[in-house]
Amino acid sequence: MQIIDGKKVSAQVKESVRLETEALVKNYGITPGLAVVIVGDDPASRVYVNNKKKACELVGFRSEEYALPAETTQEELLDLVNTLNGKKDINGILVQLPLPKHLDDKAVIESIDPQKDVDAFHAVNVGKIMLGEYDFLPCTPAGVMEMLHSYDIPVEGRECVVIGRSNIVGKPMGMLLLHENGTVTICHSRTRNLREVCLRADILVAAVGRPKFVTADMVKEGAVVIDVGMDRDENGKLCGDVDFENVKDKCSYITPVPGGVGPMTIATLMKNTLKAFKLQNNIK
Ligand code: GUN
Repeated sequence: MQIIDGKKVSAQVKESVRLETEALVKNYGITPGLAVVIVGDDPASRVYVNNKKKACELVGFRSEEYALPAETTQEELLDLVNTLNGKKDINGILVQLPLPKHLDDKAVIESIDPQKDVDAFHAVNVGKIMLGEYDFLPCTPAGVMEMLHSYDIPVEGRECVVIGRSNIVGKPMGMLLLHENGTVTICHSRTRNLREVCLRADILVAAVGRPKFVTADMVKEGAVVIDVGMDRDENGKLCGDVDFENVKDKCSYITPVPGGVGPMTIATLMKNTLKAFKLQNNIK
């Protein structure tokens, strides 16, 4: 069994973004900029936003944080996005989800200029991903693919089972595995015989949001197990969707939580922001 080191792979990705950014700043005299919008004071969102800002600093981007109070109205938020859409020195706009309940996240996402939508959540970008001709890849699924590539884990022709069908992870994850010729099954809360379906998987991706949901009896001997979860166990300790201690000995490869998929999401965000900067400035 080998542990897939997301920290290491993400550091490599960020280093390549850093080097390219350094060269571009030297040649063109402009710096990529990312705006990060956070509404309210969800502690998990706060940690994610801080990590995203730190990554920007590391790779040499400018980042602007817009921390709005929980009572922010839909109109105020849409006004901010509109202003950011028009700012030439902002290449990427990220509105951290979830938003407080009174806000309509769909309308907010659709108000982002698709060229600045570095999360790839906008309908235009989601559509492009379906068609296989995209500018931006969704951060978490693309981070998972990058890990598989980095460890030379083949996808073609293999049984890939994704548990979870969210717009952010499950659905696009299935699509990226399909683009690489995996045979893809997406499972969800209504799936019958979940255990049997999971046991078919050569590559099993858990994106359910329930602590230690994937147990050893659901994993085939020698499978690759990717854990997208960020949960808390019964003692309040950070854990994933996979019962790591009991599953690990059955796997050929497994990602830990923390230090697995999480850092890869941020590395992809940096790649997307650089791509947005190049697109907006006609740089090849
Ligand atoms: N909330 C959880 N994951 C994400 C993500 O990738 N992007 C944004 N904007 N919010 C999130």
